[in-house]
Amino acid sequence: MVGIHPTVRIHERALVDACEIGPDTRVWAFAHVLGEARIGARCNLGEGVFVEGGAVIGDDCTIKNGVAVWEGVSLGNKVFVGPNAVFTNIGRPRAARKDLYKARFATTHVGDGATIGANATILCGVTIGSYAFVGAGTVVTRNVPAHGLVVGNPGRVRGWVCCCAARLTDALECPECKMRFRKDADGLAPL
Ligand SMILES: CC(C)(COP(=O)(O)OP(=O)(O)OC[C@H]1O[C@@H](n2cnc3c(N)ncnc32)[C@H](O)[C@@H]1OP(=O)(O)O)[C@@H](O)C(=O)NCCC(=O)NCCS
Ligand SMILES: [Zn+2]
Repeated sequence: MVGIHPTVRIHERALVDACEIGPDTRVWAFAHVLGEARIGARCNLGEGVFVEGGAVIGDDCTIKNGVAVWEGVSLGNKVFVGPNAVFTNIGRPRAARKDLYKARFATTHVGDGATIGANATILCGVTIGSYAFVGAGTVVTRNVPAHGLVVGNPGRVRGWVCCCAARLTDALECPECKMRFRKDADGLAPL
C-alpha cells in the first residue's frame, strides 16, 4: 500500500480513509473515499464523489460532482465522468439477499481516454473501450467499442469519435486534428 501522496490536496470537508492516492490529485468538498480505494495521479474528484474500497481510478481522470465509483468498477487513465453519471455493480439486487452481493459483483471497465456524459447509467459487466464517448443520459447495456459514440436508451453506436472529441468522417478521419483511424477487433485504432 503506497498511501496518500503528500502532494494530494484534500478539502477539509472531504472524508478520505486509508486509501491509495497518487501525486497532485485533488479531492473536493463532501467527497468520500473509502479505505482500499486506488486513485492515480493528477485526478480531480468533484464535490460529493464517492469512491468505494476496491474501486480503481487511473491517472489524469476527472470525476465530476455526485458520481459514485463502486467496488468492481475500474477506470483507466484520462477518463472523464460527467456529473451524476451512475455506475452499478450488481445486476439483480434484492434488499433481502445481502449475502449474495459480493458473489454477484460484475466488473465494469472504462478504457483510457473515454468520456461518460452527464447522467449516463452504466449497467455492470460492460467494458467501455478506449476513447469511447457515452452521450449524456445514455443507458449503456453492452460493451462499447474503442472510439465508439453511443447515445440513447438502450445505448447504440451512432458514430465514431477522435481522441480530441470531434466526430470522425465516414472515411474515419478527424476534421479537426486530422488524425486517421482504421477498424480493428476493439473498435477503432489510430493509423
Ligand atoms: C453525444 C453528443 C457528444 C453529441 O453531440 P453532437 O455530435 O454535437 O450531436 P448533435 O447535437 O448534432 O446531435 C446529433 C443527433 O443525436 C441526438 N443526440 C445528441 N446527444 C444525444 C444524447 N445524449 N442522447 C440521445 N440523443 C442525442 C440529437 O438529438 C441529434 O438527433 P437528430 O439527428 O435526430 O436531430 C452530445 O450531445 C452529448 O451528449 N455530450 C455530452 C455532454 C456532457 O454530458 N457533458 C458532461 C460535462 S458538463
Ligand atoms: Zn481529432
